[in-house]
Amino acid sequence: MKNELLMEGDRIALDHYARETEGITVEIGTYLGGSAKILAEGSKKVYCIDVFEDIELIKNKDAKKECKDIWKDKGVTYKDIKAKLEGEYENIEVIKGESEQVAKEWKKEQVDLIFIDGDHTYEGVKTDFECWFPHLRKGAIVLFHDSNYKPIQKFAMELTKDKRVKVLGLPQNSLIVVFKKR
Ligand SMILES: C[S@@+](CC[C@H](N)C(=O)[O-])C[C@H]1O[C@@H](n2cnc3c(N)ncnc32)[C@H](O)[C@@H]1O
Repeated sequence: MKNELLMEGDRIALDHYARETEGITVEIGTYLGGSAKILAEGSKKVYCIDVFEDIELIKNKDAKKECKDIWKDKGVTYKDIKAKLEGEYENIEVIKGESEQVAKEWKKEQVDLIFIDGDHTYEGVKTDFECWFPHLRKGAIVLFHDSNYKPIQKFAMELTKDKRVKVLGLPQNSLIVVFKKR
């Protein structure tokens, strides 16, 4: 997998929503930090959550398998990525942990913007949405990456009928699906 996982439209959308909310952002799935840097430019604070090289923390076995491939032979660890991102951006905090577990223990601020780009299975995106939903303030923006993945499409379609959120759609030329908490 390439280090660069975002299309130009994704970059524009991340930048737009970070600047529009200009608040507390949570990113699920940081990997090497490509999207985190864009979010950091427009947010007050970005919490970057990932299991990093410790993929055994991922519960879903299909997601674990996929992530094993992306971390294999990467030669960088959580410590390297944390040092680099926090060194470059004083508004980034990198947290090593499994998304659902981190959400359960979350005592930090309410969230204005969440970018979900971790476990790409149906169960994974659904779990990420449900476990972070209570931490979102009213009006918060929820972004899902990789709308071209079948499991993400399936969950996004379900959410379009969910009264708790309003669908804002897909930004142009982007793989990001956007919802707003009512
Ligand atoms: C596609 S990559 C993220 C790419 C990054 N957002 C970017 O655009 O540069 C997915 C990441 O999610 C992480 N991940 C997968 N499942 C997770 C989980 N349940 N909890 C925390 N991190 C997870 C993987 O370790 C991997 O680094």
